[in-house]
Amino acid sequence: MEVKTSLLDNMIGVGDMVLLEPLSEESFLENLKNRFDHNEIYTYIGSVVISMNPYRSLPIYTPDKVEEYRNRNFYELSPHIYALADEAYRSLRDQDKDQCILITGESGAGKTEASKLVMSYVAAVCGKGQEVNKVKEQLLQSNPVLEAFGNAKTVRNDNSSRFGKYMDIEFDFKGDPLGGVISNYLLEKSRVVKQPRGERNFHIFYQLLSGASDDTLKKLKLDRDFSKYNYLSLDSAVVNGLDDAASFRTVRNAMQIVGFMEDEMQSVLQLVAAVLKLGNIEFKPESRNNSTDESRIKDKNDLKEMCELLGIEQSVLERAFSYRTVEAKLEKVSTTLNVSQAYYARDALAKNLYSRLFSWLVTRINESIKAQTKARHKVMGVLDIYGFEIFEDNSFEQFIINYCNEKLQQIFIELTLREEQEEYIREGIEWTNIEYFNNAIICDLIENNQNGILAMLDEECLRPGTVTDETFLDKLNTICAEHQHFESRLSKNSKFLNDHSLPHNCFRIQHYAGKVLYRSEGFVDKNNDLLYRDLSQAMYKATHSLIKELFPEGNPAKVNLKRPPTAGSQFKASVGTLMRNLQTKNPNYIRCIKPNDKKAAHVFTESLVCHQVRYLGLMENVRVRRAGYAFRQPYEPCLERYKMLCKRTWPHWRGPAREGVETLMVDLPIPTDEVSYGRSKIFIRNPRTLFFLEERRRQCLQDLATLIQKIYRGWKCRTHFLLLKKSQIVVSAWYRRFAQQKKYQKIKSSTTVVQSYIRGWQARKLLRELKYQKRCKEAVTTIAAYWHGTQARRELRRLKEEARRKHAVAVIWAYWQGLKVRREYRKFFRANAGKKIYDFTIQRIMQKYFLGLKNNMPPMSPIDKNWPARPYRFLDGVHKELQRIFHLWRCKKYRSKFTEEKKAVYEEKLEASKLFKDKKALYPSSVSKPFKGDYLEIRKNPKYQKLNSAVEEKVLLADVVNKINRANSKGTARIFLLTKKNVVLADQKTGQVKASVPLLDLASVSVSTKNDGFFALKLKAGSASATKGDFLLSSDHLIEIITKLHRSGATAADREQINIDISDEFLVQFKHDKVCVKFIQVAPKNGNSVSCKRKNNRLLEVLVPTTA
Ligand SMILES: Nc1ncnc2c1ncn2[C@@H]1O[C@H](COP(=O)(O)OP(=O)(O)O)[C@@H](O)[C@H]1O
Ligand SMILES: [Mg+2]
Repeated sequence: MEVKTSLLDNMIGVGDMVLLEPLSEESFLENLKNRFDHNEIYTYIGSVVISMNPYRSLPIYTPDKVEEYRNRNFYELSPHIYALADEAYRSLRDQDKDQCILITGESGAGKTEASKLVMSYVAAVCGKGQEVNKVKEQLLQSNPVLEAFGNAKTVRNDNSSRFGKYMDIEFDFKGDPLGGVISNYLLEKSRVVKQPRGERNFHIFYQLLSGASDDTLKKLKLDRDFSKYNYLSLDSAVVNGLDDAASFRTVRNAMQIVGFMEDEMQSVLQLVAAVLKLGNIEFKPESRNNSTDESRIKDKNDLKEMCELLGIEQSVLERAFSYRTVEAKLEKVSTTLNVSQAYYARDALAKNLYSRLFSWLVTRINESIKAQTKARHKVMGVLDIYGFEIFEDNSFEQFIINYCNEKLQQIFIELTLREEQEEYIREGIEWTNIEYFNNAIICDLIENNQNGILAMLDEECLRPGTVTDETFLDKLNTICAEHQHFESRLSKNSKFLNDHSLPHNCFRIQHYAGKVLYRSEGFVDKNNDLLYRDLSQAMYKATHSLIKELFPEGNPAKVNLKRPPTAGSQFKASVGTLMRNLQTKNPNYIRCIKPNDKKAAHVFTESLVCHQVRYLGLMENVRVRRAGYAFRQPYEPCLERYKMLCKRTWPHWRGPAREGVETLMVDLPIPTDEVSYGRSKIFIRNPRTLFFLEERRRQCLQDLATLIQKIYRGWKCRTHFLLLKKSQIVVSAWYRRFAQQKKYQKIKSSTTVVQSYIRGWQARKLLRELKYQKRCKEAVTTIAAYWHGTQARRELRRLKEEARRKHAVAVIWAYWQGLKVRREYRKFFRANAGKKIYDFTIQRIMQKYFLGLKNNMPPMSPIDKNWPARPYRFLDGVHKELQRIFHLWRCKKYRSKFTEEKKAVYEEKLEASKLFKDKKALYPSSVSKPFKGDYLEIRKNPKYQKLNSAVEEKVLLADVVNKINRANSKGTARIFLLTKKNVVLADQKTGQVKASVPLLDLASVSVSTKNDGFFALKLKAGSASATKGDFLLSSDHLIEIITKLHRSGATAADREQINIDISDEFLVQFKHDKVCVKFIQVAPKNGNSVSCKRKNNRLLEVLVPTTA
């Protein structure tokens, strides 16, 4: 439920000055101070918000606060700028009324902050969405850009706006922002070239130098050091709490968001850099022959760099600083500039350049933020304009600013009165005339077209002849002398003719907010705002597109001899437009007050505040507001607030609220002339009455509070008691249940115990009985068993006895029978039975022997020697014979498995055995070696191809042998071939046939009995071969060779068998001689080789070592 509150709740002092009682300047200040000390910086005068600058951040701008003030009535909560913003926004959205928010106050009073707060509040409460948020962001981000270029540190404010700003925010019918338009007023451009002590130039210069990257600075031909630039004041270049570098980044970012292109930003920075460069150009006099001084540029480096930056031809600009062309009708006159004129021209160019850049920025921002749709829209204008300024030394700028404030005051009065009157009419209350000071007369003094101060200034500026500030002041003195609000030494009006506070070159105007003394010096110049045409033409010639755009009047094609409008008339015109604009809108006022001059928190300088209260006309404001009725409130909230003061309206009034309020007022009683009843509101004439109501309400609330407390306490105690009672029942129920449960458990467990004892006892009894029965059964069984046992054993004994007796009877009977039979048959047995028994026994033995032999047959291998042992000696002969038969049989079996080849081999071996067995010691070692025949593989080996072709028959044996030389008895290796018909000896290496002996010519072969391979081939005497003599050879395969030789003889039919002589001494026919070969057995000596020695011509000794 929404809680209805009122501004009047928890009020410190009074939240609305209209309710101040008594109303005086002291009480007014006292109230402000009281509230300020309690952090209440906002106070109302009706719907006007007074804002005191706290100079510190207060926690009253949080999103929670925004929510708190959102959609609440103005007087519902304590005064706040959000309440005003909310009222304005809702009135715009719901009642379709264009709004303007006018923020005034002197420099540093918090106007700009206030305008930002209003904008941020509206941004927070209005619609949301991507497009809307973008618009909001652009509107909000236009602030940092404008502040960087238009704000500066002054003695009063570290971030003082040096231009007036009016921003129209446009909304659609739903209250969503569409865009905006910004207007700027009178930038304080003199600051570009000169700043008062303790102040700075515009922020952007410092931000650029501290925040830009080295690269950017290099491109702009700038140096980071502030001291290098004449236009930058150095004593306060660094401001506490201001981070220029960070601000620079913020500004660039803001420019991007607002929609500046990268090259546009670059151009802007180039112009800023150009201004700094311009300030560094210095001049020196150069004497001319006609005794005048002409200015020349001292150091052209800065000029050169600036021209490069802006794309201006250096000579053109240089000339523009030395000459001035005056065009009059058709004439063109060129005059030289002296040094001071050159400086004037330089500064004028810098000021113009900067202020035009600023205006361009505003236009550019407007282009970005303007509403995209043409649809009708509602507007909320926010005016943040410089406040009334009263300095020690006031010049043209202050005059203009104060004129603007004068106009604003006028519109304020007009609109406030109009609003008041409209409300009275709307509510049907009689309008009584209100006395107030109307400042229209002052406005007239300044802006009157015939004899207003601005008109006269323009007249002076346009007048031919010498025009100075003095001539202007003279003119003022003559024309305005009569005016009530004008004072000067010469005016008749002045009462201070001898007062030195009014010097000669000054005039004073009594503004609505106080008297201000203006020094006339500089008025004419500043109003003229002259920039030599040569300079603007030089600028127009630049290749830099932005610079060209800023100086359109420099276009020679559009030479305009007419003077441009003066600064004063321009301002007057723009103020006029502004005023007309504001008049169409519903005004909302924020009046800012600066509590002290030190920018310090918690300090309230009364004199300073008093001064502001006066010139802002706040007392006037209260009076106007109170002229009719001090307080008004719609009937519903009024009745809601005070209904407890009357029994008839408390607690509920059933009927129209207005009647309820009337009843209430009559009942209280309130004098009838103190209140008026409008259509929807009650009007209370005097604050006293309201406070009376409030006081009564407070008392009544206390009583009501007591009543509520009483009822509440009673209710609370009763509910507490009922709760306790209810709890007690629950607790006791639970407890009883618990106790019964326990008791039951106990009984249950005892029953179980008793039961178990009884059951145990019964069971034991039963067990005993059963055990007894079992034992009885066992005893019976045992007794029966023993009894049966005894009986059985007795029976067994009896049977055994019986059997023994039977057996004994049988034995005795047998013996007796045997005896009888033997006695009877003895004589027959001796004749036949002995032989039969013997035969049978022999038969049995033989049978056993043969069966045993059959089961123990030895293996079938013919070389196996095993044979079972003989069992009986008498079988000795049979046993041996059987062994022999078995051996023969298995040999036969073995032989029957032979192939033809194998058979031949064995026949050969058999032959060898016949020849050498037991005759030659070499024989046993040859038995196990098979006869291979062709050891050299004559037919296959390609080495013996030649030999092969020489021998055509089948080769029976081929081997290498040693032929013993008869001369030295040494051996020569020869190939030995045996064929069917021949023995061939051939050279081992060449294979050439050395000798071929037909077997027919062979008489015999001689070998020794020893273990050697010597053999002699003896030839038949008289045969063809015998001419060469016998051969003495030695071979490793002697046995084989001789056997094969012998066999070849046996198989051939045409010749007889070759003789084999085995003896240790034989003769060999060597050609002519017969030599005896003698074999001698010797002990082995250096190896086992057989050696041959020739003893003499007739004897050859062969030494054969004994084999181990
Ligand atoms: N509501 C506020 N809360 C906190 N500080 C404020 C407030 N209003 C103003 N200030 C302080 O005062 C300074 C000057 O305010 P500013 O709005 O720039 O003054 P003006 O625009 O009137 O010259 C600000 O920089 C800020 O420090
Ligand atoms: Mg400001």
